Amino acid sequence: MSDSGAGLISRYQARLALPTSVKPISLQEGSTPLVCLNSLCDPERGIVVYGKVEGANPTGSFKDRGMTVAITMAAHEGSEAVICASTGNTSAAAAAYAARAGMKAFVVIPDGKIALGKLAQAMMHGARVIQIAGNFDEGMQIVKAMPDEAPVTLVNSVNPYRLQGQKTAAFEIVDSLGRAPDYHFLPVGNAGNISAYWLGYSEYHQTGDLDKLPIMVGCQAAGAAPFVHGKIVADPETVATAIRIGNPQSWDLAQAARSESGGWFVAHEDQLILDAQQYLAQREGIFCEPASAVSVAALISALRESAIPDQSVVVCTLTGHGLKDPDTAISQSPEPLRVAPTLGAVRDAILR
Ligand code: F0G
Repeated sequence: MSDSGAGLISRYQARLALPTSVKPISLQEGSTPLVCLNSLCDPERGIVVYGKVEGANPTGSFKDRGMTVAITMAAHEGSEAVICASTGNTSAAAAAYAARAGMKAFVVIPDGKIALGKLAQAMMHGARVIQIAGNFDEGMQIVKAMPDEAPVTLVNSVNPYRLQGQKTAAFEIVDSLGRAPDYHFLPVGNAGNISAYWLGYSEYHQTGDLDKLPIMVGCQAAGAAPFVHGKIVADPETVATAIRIGNPQSWDLAQAARSESGGWFVAHEDQLILDAQQYLAQREGIFCEPASAVSVAALISALRESAIPDQSVVVCTLTGHGLKDPDTAISQSPEPLRVAPTLGAVRDAILR
């Protein structure tokens, strides 16, 4: 699996079970960095922590992995239009890959609750953006029924090709570490991604490419934590708009990932999520979006509670790029200093 310049489909074709005649619609997604998060490692206890930086994908999130496969298969099956509901990143990826395939994209988004960068992407790639006066879960119910009403292919993660593509992130981690992590922390919203990672790890295990499976830790925002509460949340609310979801579609698969791996679900308050986002940006130089930082917030808490044993290897998936949500970033940062355009004024600002 060394051809990291190629897209996922050509790199992992044999594992994706796609017809050999498919013509990949690719933006060379995947092959994202697995970066050691030095400040979270604990050499004395032998704990090593990595971040899988999915913001390095072509549209800035892990959704590209699923979308290359979903759009490739939609095109292969003769579809001319795709639809999704989205908190933002799915719509950006659907719009970009549909553009590349010469297909139309319709994206249904919650009114006013989508980060600016994601909206810009969907609009710029020429998607028809449909804002509903409702949340993601309501949008999801509508788009699931739409293939019966209009000639569109659904490309949310209930489309099984999405999980096929997204499972490749687990392959890449094992290919690069030569093993699975002991613990894998990742944000959970609609729950497709935790299901996809578990599928990937399990497949490598079945084919003998992996000895020991990881423990999966699903991380949610406190105001949108259906898995922690064990039931649907009617009015999810969180600053991490990407995971502002109360009725996850991959409920059973995510529960299976948790129970089969011996893992757990955990939720954290918005302030802790934002603190973790800033921590990563300022201590590690990695700018991820708030939803991604929930995995790091959860790991920091687990380390404090000594819930991670000595000699553990940990991976946190950093699902999306921080530039997706400039408003949230700017609102938690100090104002720029405003000074006169002179050497003295700038020097005084430096020495202040
Ligand atoms: N992180 C980010 C940045 C996301 O955009 C999402 C989901 C998740 C985590 C959670 O992944 O849904 O597979 O559990 N975003 C979807 C969207 C819902 O519409 O972009 P999940």
